[in-house]
Amino acid sequence: MADQENTIESLISEQAVNSFNDAPDARYKQIMQRLVHHLHAFVGEVELTEQEWFEGIRFLTETGHKCDGQVRQEFILLSDTLGVSMLVDAINHRHGANATDTTVFGPFYIEGMPDRAFGENMAFTAGEPALVRGRVVDTHGNSLGGAVLDVWQTAENGMYSGQDTEQPFGNLRGRYRTDADGCFAIRTIVPVCYPIPTDGPVGRMLNAANRHPWRPAHLHFMIDMPGYRKLVTHLFNHDDPYLESDAVFGVKQSLQVIYEDRVAHDDLSASLGIEVPFKRACYEFVMETE
Ligand code: BEZ
Ligand code: FE
Repeated sequence: MADQENTIESLISEQAVNSFNDAPDARYKQIMQRLVHHLHAFVGEVELTEQEWFEGIRFLTETGHKCDGQVRQEFILLSDTLGVSMLVDAINHRHGANATDTTVFGPFYIEGMPDRAFGENMAFTAGEPALVRGRVVDTHGNSLGGAVLDVWQTAENGMYSGQDTEQPFGNLRGRYRTDADGCFAIRTIVPVCYPIPTDGPVGRMLNAANRHPWRPAHLHFMIDMPGYRKLVTHLFNHDDPYLESDAVFGVKQSLQVIYEDRVAHDDLSASLGIEVPFKRACYEFVMETE
């Protein structure tokens, strides 16, 4: 009897996989057939009950309903918290060269934020004053002048402007440009750790798994330079307590920076009107050609 049941079950799986045999697009066919294969294998392995199947459907339905088409994208959050976003990132950014590591994009980027001058302050809310400076270079160490750095981070309350409508427009966001020597300078505040949104199905999933929702403090970068691969990454504060347990698995050792105490001006800080003491982090981004 068990054999007969096994045969019926594998026949169902086989039929479902084969139903994509005639898909004209070869890549679509490959993706759908492997997806159905693994989905069936999963259902068979855990012997999903009808109640569990329905709970899964309900969870995915709620995930869709939580998306608002603007700020909230619960499916991306689900992908992030399942480690899928970082896996896709790793597969698509295998590089042999010494290019800067990439990490998760996240759902809080906003296009069209203000262009900011070299060293301009992007923080209009309270925090520990910081100067983030460095260079953008190619894989041979040559300066890349004119690279655009789109930068964003949360305020001290752990929320991004746009997500938190109380914050001024463009707070802690901006588009900086490297000078002829490939240098950039960003006046801001030291990033803080913050929880990803937990008021939806993803939050319930984390709770049911006894997982915390925190991301270690970081500053987001999306760097564009014609002829080079767009670089999406973060700089993480090296001393953050959540570096080892990022809710979205985004941390890489190479992306950690120290916000050092500066009690005296450096070659730049006085000219930018920064008051001492301040915190300073330095980083060199390496971009690879397309
Ligand atoms: C972020 O860093 O902004 C982020 C990334 C993944 C999920 C939620 C937030
Ligand atoms: Fe973030």
